[in-house]
Amino acid sequence: MSDATCPAAILPLRFLGDPVLRSKASRVDAFDADLRTLAESMVASMYAHHGIGLAAPQVGRPIRLIVVDTGEQRDGSEAFALVNPEIVEQEGAVTGEEGCLSIPGIVAEVERSSRVRVRGSTPAGEPLEIVATELLARVLQHEIDHLNGILFVDRLGPMRRRMALREWRRRRTRDEPAAPAAGA
Ligand code: NI
Repeated sequence: MSDATCPAAILPLRFLGDPVLRSKASRVDAFDADLRTLAESMVASMYAHHGIGLAAPQVGRPIRLIVVDTGEQRDGSEAFALVNPEIVEQEGAVTGEEGCLSIPGIVAEVERSSRVRVRGSTPAGEPLEIVATELLARVLQHEIDHLNGILFVDRLGPMRRRMALREWRRRRTRDEPAAPAAGA
């Protein structure tokens, strides 16, 4: 249940090393109130953790649901949730900096398609199609990767992946607070 007097829950994040991040998430069949509540809680959690995108496995739910907000307002007005998202077209290639809420403190340059067309549904079950470029295209590809158990460090070359993972372990050992980066 959720209503205006009951703010959406802030869900704890799962981090690199948690097997849920490596599972292939299941398709959503039930477009019910639980799904809408989870989507609302994921939007609130994305803001609380300073992210621009969040996939359900990152909060321990291996289902095909993502939320995204690459806007400036950060008040829910530009956020959207996408259920069972699929990339149906992609073109071009562009390299840009990426981070992940599940690997805090690590950023790296990742190559992505520069334009994608993504098809899915809203949490209410309405079809939703998005044609995205720039940051939104990058975040959508990053989040859909999460649903397939893929993390952005998997898309680095072997040497840069080793460096990123070494830095991650170093930070975990010292329990360093992560600098807020645009994580997704
Ligand atoms: Ni991520």
